[in-house]
Amino acid sequence: MGKDSIAFDAHHEARIEKAMQAVSEASMAAAADPHRLSYHFMAPAAWMNDPNGLIYFKGEYHLFYQIHPYSAGNGPKHWGHAKSADLVNWEHLPIALAPTLEYEANGCFSGSAVDDHGVFTLIYTGNAVKDKRKKQVQCVATSDDGITFRKYAGNPIIGEFPEEGSADFRDPKVWRHRDQWYMAVGSGKNGKGNALLYRSGDLYDWTYIGKMAESRTPEEGVVWNCPDFFRVGDKDVLMVSPAVWEGNKQFVRKTLYYIGRMDYETGIFHPETAGDVDSGWDFYAPQTLVDSQGRIILIGWMDMWFNPMPTQAYGWAGAMTLPREVFLTSGGKLGFRPARELEQLRHGETRFAPFRMEQGEAKKLAAEGDALELSLSFHAHEATRFSIRLRESVDGGHPAATVTFDGRANELSVQVAGATGPGDPSIWADRCELRPAADGTMRLRLFLDRSSLEAFGNDGEAVITRRVYPETDSLGVSLHNAGAPLHVGDLLVWKLRSIW
Ligand code: FRU
Repeated sequence: MGKDSIAFDAHHEARIEKAMQAVSEASMAAAADPHRLSYHFMAPAAWMNDPNGLIYFKGEYHLFYQIHPYSAGNGPKHWGHAKSADLVNWEHLPIALAPTLEYEANGCFSGSAVDDHGVFTLIYTGNAVKDKRKKQVQCVATSDDGITFRKYAGNPIIGEFPEEGSADFRDPKVWRHRDQWYMAVGSGKNGKGNALLYRSGDLYDWTYIGKMAESRTPEEGVVWNCPDFFRVGDKDVLMVSPAVWEGNKQFVRKTLYYIGRMDYETGIFHPETAGDVDSGWDFYAPQTLVDSQGRIILIGWMDMWFNPMPTQAYGWAGAMTLPREVFLTSGGKLGFRPARELEQLRHGETRFAPFRMEQGEAKKLAAEGDALELSLSFHAHEATRFSIRLRESVDGGHPAATVTFDGRANELSVQVAGATGPGDPSIWADRCELRPAADGTMRLRLFLDRSSLEAFGNDGEAVITRRVYPETDSLGVSLHNAGAPLHVGDLLVWKLRSIW
């Protein structure tokens, strides 16, 4: 049951009005950007990062997100809001949360949404910075109509971090198990990222249980951001977006998943298998929802902290990945395949008859564009080295992105022309292990939008997500075989329509 004592926050409505005005004013310039995406979710303008409060509620998918309405850069976060009937077409709704109160003065940070016996409830982090010290607390807001949210008068519901935590104490993920609510909060201490577990009967009074899980190596993070937790098949899954240290600077990195078992008696999660949710550089802070069909749908932020973002010149930055369905692979890993609803975007199909490519041969496809889905299969073995070049310049050279499968290393990788963020991401990002099926078949499905690429290997066993910023007239697609002779089958290219 939602609590009656909802804060009277005289400024909230006015601050939301003001923020929406700012976004609306910036939206004309954003719309003129040739790199504006055509079938991915974006805010109308301004800076956005993490998805928040992903939920299937009363027949509709809701997506909230971190937005700084007043610039295309970082700043005090609000919660943007949109909904969809099909995960593909989105309707923008009014901003749901604006930071107006002392405990959230520097941002309504990431969090989740639940259906509390019919009450649409958001649980988020209030971020306040005073004298360079940050204080992060957990808060609740509720809504009667799914549009206007009011903050709980008793906020914060968790006002201090526990012994095992630190001042990094944020991004609550709330779920229900039996007749109790559980909350995992991201934190870290003594060089280890961790998820801290709480329990509540009513969503408002919380009891600290303990450390649910922590990083096992420094590479798994010194702080865990945005924990997410769900059940798939008979397994529990914890996902976290770690921050790691490189030299004396803190960097964020790939989102990890741990498949294992949650022991609700002890409050400890026992990991059995770990992996990357996405191996690309431009992927972070994903969340999941469970819909009415029982599917687990995942959406991530399709960009990364500290990236150069050419779109900022047009007053916007950041987008969401395509919705992906999460599943357990036959090898006991997690797989992520594009939600089938995305097929409605297809038009202008080009189908190629199977063909053979000799070593050193290149083939330009008579199908090009800046919003494409490409699907193909080939037989792979040790001597396979095969690439798909995308967004090639008019003269046929300079692809903005190249997707390569190397059979010697069993590796899928993406090479991008131009600048990336700090460090050298190619050391650890944009590449991952991918093995052909038992019969040697390898499948690739690529989604290319005006400034993004999502490469799915073997129906979602591996994913690499990357932002790319090609020249507008660089539209070519070609195949290159640097390895042994190769048979390409089932090659299909669709143009994808815009959702905006
Ligand atoms: C992750 C993150 C979260 C935080 C939010 C702030 O990208 O840093 O930990 O709540 O973004 O916008």
